Amino acid sequence: MVGRVIPVEPFDLVVFGGTGDLAQRKLLPALYHRMCAGQILPGTRIIAIGRRDIDVDGYRALAAGALQEFASEDRKGDFLAMLDYVKMDVTGGEGWPTLASRLGDDGRVRAFYLSVAPHLFVPVSERLVAAGCRTPGTRLVVEKPQGSDFVSAETLNRTLASLFGERQVYRIDHYLGKETVQNLMALRFANALFEPIWNARHVDHVQITVAERIGVEGRGAYYDQTGALRDMVQNHLLQLLCLIAMEPPATFNADAVRDEKLKVLLSLAPLENPADVVCGRYLGGDGMGSYLEDVGNPESRSESFVALRAEIANWRWNGTPFYLRTGKRLRARMSEIAVVFKDAPHSIFPPAAGAMAPNVLAIRLQPDEGITLGLTIKEPGPGGMRLIGTPLDMTFADTLERQGLTMPDAYERLVLDVIRGDQTLFMRRDEVEAAWRWIDRAVAIAGNTPGPPHAYESLSAGPEEALMLVHRDGRRWRPIMARASDEQ
Ligand code: BG6
Repeated sequence: MVGRVIPVEPFDLVVFGGTGDLAQRKLLPALYHRMCAGQILPGTRIIAIGRRDIDVDGYRALAAGALQEFASEDRKGDFLAMLDYVKMDVTGGEGWPTLASRLGDDGRVRAFYLSVAPHLFVPVSERLVAAGCRTPGTRLVVEKPQGSDFVSAETLNRTLASLFGERQVYRIDHYLGKETVQNLMALRFANALFEPIWNARHVDHVQITVAERIGVEGRGAYYDQTGALRDMVQNHLLQLLCLIAMEPPATFNADAVRDEKLKVLLSLAPLENPADVVCGRYLGGDGMGSYLEDVGNPESRSESFVALRAEIANWRWNGTPFYLRTGKRLRARMSEIAVVFKDAPHSIFPPAAGAMAPNVLAIRLQPDEGITLGLTIKEPGPGGMRLIGTPLDMTFADTLERQGLTMPDAYERLVLDVIRGDQTLFMRRDEVEAAWRWIDRAVAIAGNTPGPPHAYESLSAGPEEALMLVHRDGRRWRPIMARASDEQ
């Protein structure tokens, strides 16, 4: 069971790219789990759109295969009965009347999920409006990438705004659907403990790390055009930064939360110093291809790793660096936010007691979700006062398992929020554009840096040069390592 389940009225979900990787790997399993949990009711229709020449039975067989691999439990028959398929080349005229007639006009919520290449976002949106598929209860779900810089994002947003109201557009950043990411808001705003020390007076710096062990894994062509700054920092890392840095919203609703996140993005000091952006790309070895081999372009200049030093120029955070780091083919899969507090102002202990380590609140987003608070305590036993650092450790799985709860996948939450009409966990137009404005500067700095990105060994912590980014401020990165329980 996954907490309290409130069913949604039967709805129509049209998935463009219904035979694609995201639909098969994430969307169908997510919908299946929500149906098994009793949240998606009979009568709901999931209409997949694809170019493959198959009929509805062919699609159901495909979906059954996807569920076999990725979903548990056994109510597949009920789920497969909800699926329909329309074959269509979305840039042509055929297929649209079929889709329009299958949808009918029964006034229920309908969502169009654009899980297609970004150059198709606009043509598909235009055609579905022209085909008469847009109703007042229509929602449009847009996957990433939402533009590749400020200008393209603004153009995309403007075009979508000519077709749909902002309240109808759901821009996905799947990190916002992760339970632990939502938990950041609960941690900060449902506990009185943190707020008084959550500021530049008490926080020395913040580190946000999203490290992956995988390489570009068959997405070479996309990645070569994109790089880590655009693929990960513009969206996922900046969203995490917003949740950590934002002011308490007036209420927990979509506009109040997004207003506060926007203020953080607008307060980011524009990057000026080239040394604040360090890019890298992985080397091959041990049977693993190098980044250049994986993207299939020996001339590539794009980065599979980036480390950045950001500052938020506002009253709360003035002078507190936020170090961001993400990369592929690193030592471990590890996403965490570490809030490193300032040293105690004065030590009453003799030098022989040893140093007092700063308190660190580490929020582990994945895997092995949980929170660790680093404390200094007395080393137990005789021999006078000796200080040692020790973690106060809470692994969410332990607590949740005891209560019979599990962590749903991000897409389970996000798809249901679309149907419920809750935009809190989706990015608003102005947020996306503000994030691009800041990232454009980082991309320009990276592009103007002579030479290719710095090389790093596969399964390392990234390029040596990234160490300098924090060392020059007298600080250290936290280690990238798997915890014993999640070695991959
Ligand atoms: C995607 C990126 O948005 O997020 C991928 O395009 C990346 O490159 C992925 O691998 C990471 O997501 P997760 O949920 O596995 O941390």
